[in-house]
Amino acid sequence: MAILVTGGAGYIGSHTCVELLNAGYEVVVLDNLSNASEKSLERVRRITGKDLAFYKGDILDRDILNKLFAENEIESCIHFAGLKAVGESVQKPWEYYHNNISGTLTLVDVMRQHNCKNIIFSSSATVYGNPAQIPITEECPKGECTNPYGWTKSMLEQVLTDIQKADPQWNVILLRYFNPIGAHKSGTIGENPNGIPNNLMPYITQVAVGKLKELGVFGDDYDTPDGTGVRDYIHVVDLAVGHVKALKKIEEKAGLCIYNLGTGHGYSVLDIVKNFEKANGVKIPYVIKPRRAGDIATCYSNADKAEKELGWKAENGILEMCEDSWRWQKNNPNGYES
Ligand code: NAD
Ligand code: UFG
Repeated sequence: MAILVTGGAGYIGSHTCVELLNAGYEVVVLDNLSNASEKSLERVRRITGKDLAFYKGDILDRDILNKLFAENEIESCIHFAGLKAVGESVQKPWEYYHNNISGTLTLVDVMRQHNCKNIIFSSSATVYGNPAQIPITEECPKGECTNPYGWTKSMLEQVLTDIQKADPQWNVILLRYFNPIGAHKSGTIGENPNGIPNNLMPYITQVAVGKLKELGVFGDDYDTPDGTGVRDYIHVVDLAVGHVKALKKIEEKAGLCIYNLGTGHGYSVLDIVKNFEKANGVKIPYVIKPRRAGDIATCYSNADKAEKELGWKAENGILEMCEDSWRWQKNNPNGYES
């Protein structure tokens, strides 16, 4: 029996493959490499000393999905594959809805035809919109998303919820990630954005490595302790371990479950800059810029439910996140191309 990891060559997927292989699972990856390099999987093999199967292909392609299910005994799917750039989704809504929603509908249809009805879905704290309460519990109502990417997550949560309701043989776990940063301790796999990074930590590491001149801090007039945006940064290895715990839950016949995966702590943009400098002894020049459209002031989790029901808790603190992000960037200034 194997675990299908869609989008397994990507940032969170590759780290999850490491944890799955280390936990003794057989792993089959499907990735179209639209935002990843196959080299990440070579490095996963090197880190773990174990092999995994790789199919280069698309979740929209029924033929490759049918072939994959015919050739492997898949018991559960961890579904990472999707487009994730917030700004791009505003420019290309059709592409985002088609890839993420049609892709997931196709995947789930082929899964049920092969009687595989266990899925863990990569959702996001973005589904809470401007959250009604802080810290955010899973009971907090979903909100208005500010971009098509966020809506794909919100809509797919509903699609999977309705599918599970109609057919209780399905086990569906919706994992709402907060802000993943960091990298594997080996410094050989990590986040590898195309072009100029949109997210805070890859931007900081590219300033640190000299590829970018200075960080732009998007707004210092929010209602937060230092005026800059506050987020719940979580180490990607902790996030990956959360998926292994969620698989155990699926094995106990979970039905439908929703969990926040965060640390429960909020850090501001300037906190991250200071912690990065402290952890790594590298100066990060920055300038204050106007607010970025669509950003909210504060977003951090209450992560008690995952601790209680999955036995999962984030272990790495902010200094380790900063250290590990930097090790990856320093050793691989051009990502997987170096
Ligand atoms: P990523 O881009 O590194 O990984 C996604 C992978 O999916 C890539 O390897 C890409 O090539 C692949 N992919 C995309 N469309 C595909 C398709 N149609 N068929 C096959 N493969 C396809 O992103 P990530 O940061 O690892 O995110 C993984 C998942 O977690 C995504 O669904 C993302 O939306 C979600 N998520 C990420 C964050 C974050 O901040 N990184 C936060 C919340 C949720
Ligand atoms: N920021 C800057 N400068 C930058 C980049 C970011 O000041 O160059 C600030 C943002 O304004 C925000 C914080 O840093 O206050 C974090 O921004 P990110 O872009 O790193 O992350 P977001 O919280 O905006 O969004 C991320 C993912 C989304 C996901 C969400 C879930 O990009 O896909 O986390 O919480 F939905």
